[in-house]
Amino acid sequence: MPSKFEKLMNGADGGLALLQVLAENSFDSVLITDASVAGKIIYANKSFKKLTGHDPSKIIGKTPRILQGPATDSNVIARLSDALKSGGKFEGKAINYRSDGTPFIMYWRVLPIKVGKKIIAWVAIQREGSVI
Ligand SMILES: Cc1cc2nc3c(=O)[nH]c(=O)nc-3n(C[C@H](O)[C@H](O)[C@H](O)COP(=O)(O)O)c2cc1C
Repeated sequence: MPSKFEKLMNGADGGLALLQVLAENSFDSVLITDASVAGKIIYANKSFKKLTGHDPSKIIGKTPRILQGPATDSNVIARLSDALKSGGKFEGKAINYRSDGTPFIMYWRVLPIKVGKKIIAWVAIQREGSVI
């Protein structure tokens, strides 16, 4: 028997409303790209701006590669790339750069959003890491 929570969330727009509240108010940065492997950004929350300095409205249509630079570990990115190609998930850390060029350690997960077997988008949950 579905719980009261499941009934609410399955009803009309309940699930979407919950997701919006969670994403908008998450302490972690949330970044969503379209389904292609070379994914373009379709959503970023306020915590993404706080973490990276990038204004969400200005990076829609770009790729998360804007966060990378000379000290970004290419082995970590290759591992992420493999996860994207195989429809799997990724967790790791690497040096990324804020919009003003200052480096920081990005610690993040990337997961496919699936409807049935079809990947419709990718979501990343990101925070600043302390050690590499
Ligand atoms: C949802 C999502 C979030 C990503 N977030 C980051 C990130 O925070 N930092 C980063 O260095 N790369 C991130 N990437 C990886 C790049 O967008 C890109 O997939 C990666 O560089 C591999 O492609 P390339 O080999 O063509 O560079 C993310 C990718 C996806 C799909």
